[in-house]
This record gives sequence, structure tokens and C-alpha cells, in this order.
Amino acid sequence: MLLLLPLLFRGLLCHGASTVDPQVPGPHHLAAEESPSFRLIQISSFANHSWTKTQGSGWLGELQTHGWDSILATIRFLRPWSQGNFSKEELKSIQALLQLYFHSFPREVQAYASQFQFEYPFELQVSFGCLIHTGKALETFLNGAYQGLDFLSFQENSWKPFPGAGSRAENVCRVLNHYRIIKEIVQKLLSDTCPRFLAGILEAGKSELEKQVKPEAWVSKGPSPGPGRLLLVCHVSGFHPKPIWVMWMRGKQKHPGTRRGDVLPNADGTWYLRVTLDVAAGEASGLSCQVKHTSLGGQDIIIHWGGYSFFSLLICLIVIVTLVMLVIVDSSFKKQSSNQDVFSISHPAFPTGAKTQDPRNSVHQLCLAQESWIKNRLLKKWKDRLNQL
Ligand SMILES: *[C@@H]1O[C@H](CO)[C@@H](O)[C@H](O)[C@H]1NC(C)=O
Ligand SMILES: *[C@@H]1O[C@H](CO)[C@@H](O)[C@H](O)[C@H]1NC(C)=O
Repeated sequence: MLLLLPLLFRGLLCHGASTVDPQVPGPHHLAAEESPSFRLIQISSFANHSWTKTQGSGWLGELQTHGWDSILATIRFLRPWSQGNFSKEELKSIQALLQLYFHSFPREVQAYASQFQFEYPFELQVSFGCLIHTGKALETFLNGAYQGLDFLSFQENSWKPFPGAGSRAENVCRVLNHYRIIKEIVQKLLSDTCPRFLAGILEAGKSELEKQVKPEAWVSKGPSPGPGRLLLVCHVSGFHPKPIWVMWMRGKQKHPGTRRGDVLPNADGTWYLRVTLDVAAGEASGLSCQVKHTSLGGQDIIIHWGGYSFFSLLICLIVIVTLVMLVIVDSSFKKQSSNQDVFSISHPAFPTGAKTQDPRNSVHQLCLAQESWIKNRLLKKWKDRLNQL
């Protein structure tokens, strides 16, 4: 099977040869100063002599751009620009090469499993790709892992066991190094096809990759870290690109206790980050969460840790807006109907919440008062309507 590869690859080499461009493309502004990379990931599981499963995917940095459909044996293009600037023919040659590879790889591994001392069940992982550093320097890589541990790599045109991977890896490399033509194919894919493809999709996907989406931020209380302590959580979500700066601040001072989580992906291609601070309950007031991001154009988001949460303020705002609208509706209603159906607040239908709840602050009190006033007016209005029937 492996011997078929060169035949198939001849077509690919020829396509490549006509468009060989010795110049590696210039740096792109994918995220802030991140070197763009493209990699293929292969994960193959071998349960026993007869059961194996292989998954393949393509990644531009941390964004999945390609999948491998193992039923149809075809490349799945996950983004509208996943084909880059490659022609249909070149993509077909690559697909044919991958078909042959995904077909023969598990069979060859099964055939050599006992000679290589692979013990069932086992897992093999391959990461293959290239990275363009700023300053146009190209870095290529092909690494293999056995049972999740570094096993071998492809460097300077030959297979090398990973230091510490033992005689098993040495044995595999010795066998692989006999296949000169495979090494040529791998070398060509790494140093020519990969960087050309990477440059092509970076260009094709530019508007999506460089889109600027503003974060939303809010604060909440996390599970208490202990008696008398508070866990302040600052959530920042929906931003793009990935690099972001988030800090808990006291005035203009960064709080040294700030703990930053991992930047996690949202389903829509934007990012989410959680930044926490463990403080004594008495020291929480006066703290704020500050967010800097390229999409904000220097207008940092600052959220103060205060008495009222974002939601209670939002509810209060809704109540006030509803109230204003009701007053407008009322006054126009009054103009139209001249009966003595005038609303009196002096005889509320039920006691106001503001009197019975003893709230701690005046904003709250205002909200509660408004809420019960609206309730009373509505009840009265309904009663009047019922009487009219
Ligand atoms: C091989 O592994 C698969 C999946 O775990 C299992 O369903 C199957 O029965 C196994 N076959 C043999 C011959 O052990
Ligand atoms: C695709 O774009 C890259 C960089 O812009 C270029 O080097 C390459 O020749 C183009 N075409 C193909 C078919 O690779």
C-alpha cells in the first residue's frame, strides 16, 4: 500500500511544480502578533487486531477549518474560505492522497503492530503542519505520539525518535527511514504545499479572521472561598480576536490576586474569559473589573463591583421605561374618554412593597414603589373595565 503513494503523488508534485513560489508569504495580522499556523491532526485508535478508528481535521491556529469524512472519504470544508486559493485539481489530488493515506495507515499499523511492540488498545496521534513566523521564517513540523506521549518526529528529511521514547520508537524510525519516496513526499508537503495553502487561506479568510467583535462584560459572585471571603467573578464574552487584557482593579492599581482562566471558545467563533478575585468580604467595595481589547478602540470597559448587580439595575430600568410609557398611554387615554375614571394613588388596592420590605437602599426603594404603583394602577384599570361590561 505505502508503495502506491509515490504514484499518486506524482500528480500532486506536478501541480505544485508549476506554481512553486520560493518566497514564503509575508506576515499577516492574524490576531495580535500571533504567528499563523496550519496543521492537520490525525487521531487513530486501535482497540484490537480488527477494530480501528481514525479521525482527521485541519486547523488554522485554533480555528477548525477542515474535517475528514471517513464514510465518504472526502475533505469537509468547514468555512466558506477553507479551499484557500488552491485549484479544484490540486484539492482533488490532495484528497486522493489523503484517501490513500487514511485507507492504508491503519492497515500498515495493524500489520506491523507486533513487530513494533504496540500493545492493544493503543492510540496514535499525528500533528503535521507549518507556521509562518513574523519575518517570513517558515517552520514545519510533523510529530507522532504513541499513547499520548511524544514518540517520533520528521526533521531534516528523516524520521527521528523522540528523546526518551525508547527502543520502540527507534525501531519504527529505522523502518520508516527505508522509504525514501515517502520522505520526499512528506518533505514536499511540509515545505511547499503547506505554506502555500496557509498563505492562501489566510488571504481568503481575511475578513472573518480579522473581524473585530466587542466583548460584553459582567460581574457576579462565585462560590464563597471561605468564611468572610468573597469570590468576585468578571465574565467577558463574545470578543474577537482572542488576545484580551482583563484585570481586577482598585482605582488605577492592578489587584495582584487576580486569577485568569483559560480563554474558551464560544460556538459562534468568538471567545469567553473568566477572571476571578478572592477577597475579604469587607474589601470588595471600590473594586472594578477592567477590560482592554482591540475592538474597543482604547475605550476600556470598566465594571464596578457595587451594591446592585447588573440585573437589578436592568430590572429597575425596565420598570422605569414601562412607567413612562404607561403615563404616556394614560394621558392619551384620558384625553379621549372624559368620564371620571381618574386614577387615585391615595387608595392603593394593596399595601405597597416599599413599606413592608424595608429595603436597604433608596434605588431599590424607588423601584419597589414604582413596581407596586404600576400594579395598583393596572388592577384598578382592570376593575374599571370589568365594571363597564
Ligand atoms: C475489538 O474491539 C471492538 C471495540 O471495542 C469490540 O466491539 C470487538 O468485539 C473487539 N473484537 C475482538 C475480536 O476482540
Ligand atoms: C496562493 O497564494 C499564495 C500566497 O498568496 C501563493 O504563494 C500561491 O502561489 C497561490 N496559488 C496557489 C495555487 O498556491
